[in-house]
Amino acid sequence: MKTHSLLMPLDMHVHLRDGEMLQNVAKLTSYTFSGAVVMPNLVPPVKTREQVKAYRERIMFACGLGINEDEIEDFSFDEDEDEALIGGGDFEPFMTIFYDNYSEEYLEEVRDLIFGIKLYPAGITTNSEGGVKDFNLEAMRPTLEAMARMDIPLLVHGETAGFVMDREKEFMSIYELLASNFPDLKIVMEHITTKAAVDLLDKFPNLYATITVHHLLITLDDVAGGMLQPHLFCKPIAKRPEDREALLELALNAHPKVMFGSDSAPHPQHAKESCGCGAGVFTAPIALQLLCELFDKHGKLDNLQSFVSDNAQSIYGICPEFKEVVLEEKPFTVPAKYGDVVPMYAGKTIGWSIEDVL
Ligand code: DOR
Ligand code: ZN
Repeated sequence: MKTHSLLMPLDMHVHLRDGEMLQNVAKLTSYTFSGAVVMPNLVPPVKTREQVKAYRERIMFACGLGINEDEIEDFSFDEDEDEALIGGGDFEPFMTIFYDNYSEEYLEEVRDLIFGIKLYPAGITTNSEGGVKDFNLEAMRPTLEAMARMDIPLLVHGETAGFVMDREKEFMSIYELLASNFPDLKIVMEHITTKAAVDLLDKFPNLYATITVHHLLITLDDVAGGMLQPHLFCKPIAKRPEDREALLELALNAHPKVMFGSDSAPHPQHAKESCGCGAGVFTAPIALQLLCELFDKHGKLDNLQSFVSDNAQSIYGICPEFKEVVLEEKPFTVPAKYGDVVPMYAGKTIGWSIEDVL
């Protein structure tokens, strides 16, 4: 049977939540990924040094990689620090804070604990009410210039409040403004879903992108073309076939500015299967299997390593903990639930399985 190994897979955009949900989902990510960029949209959002430290500690604990209080006091991304304190095991949660117009002094305080800053337009998705209300570049300039100086990447949820199918496309002018005004700022267009974003990527050297596995597989037709599929509903919503084609072209060819970011976003079953379904597709436990199946189908398995790890390592300059995930072309029936969360493709059989994690 055909097998394929992936070294140090990285999920460059994931929602791990908190409390019981964190306990349920964190291990599903840390099992197959060497590291993951953890979104800060908790309630309240993660913003302070204390919040980042405490959240990181809860994540490590939920992954079974708990480290003690004294070590937490000391850990940092500083390369001079003891490695054991940085990694805490074979999974690294790359922590982010929620964007605000922070001062340079504030950023200096948190720098050693954070991997990036996540910018949400206000109210655009789950727990984003405290996000940016208007993109007044002059008000944002001191923060963005300080971030550029300190080499803190800006991770952006790029949607306007316009018509739902046009939101990402309409945001391109904001990306252009940000990229041209702050040429030294690393800007990541998170979970891109449109040809418009694909077309913008190479226009600015400081623009990068993440792509989810679900946006490589589905279009709006899969979400709402037949009976409504709440477990495929997410923000940005899946778009048109030509958009998916453009994303596939980038991912399958492992464009060097593109990284895998699952945007795996668990919600309890009752919050999805209800009137007022929360946005989010839960893919953490099946993402690598789906990617293997997809890349294999297109004869591009050799490019998957770059998409799921190497590109992110070069873009962010990271060197993840060793992990080898061996996948096999063997049918896998996706469980109906993981705890109280229904995954994408629940109950369906997909073509590839996780054979081993070394
Ligand atoms: O579908 C989504 N779910 N998109 C987001 O941007 C947020 C996420 C969540 O936190 O549930
Ligand atoms: Zn997200």
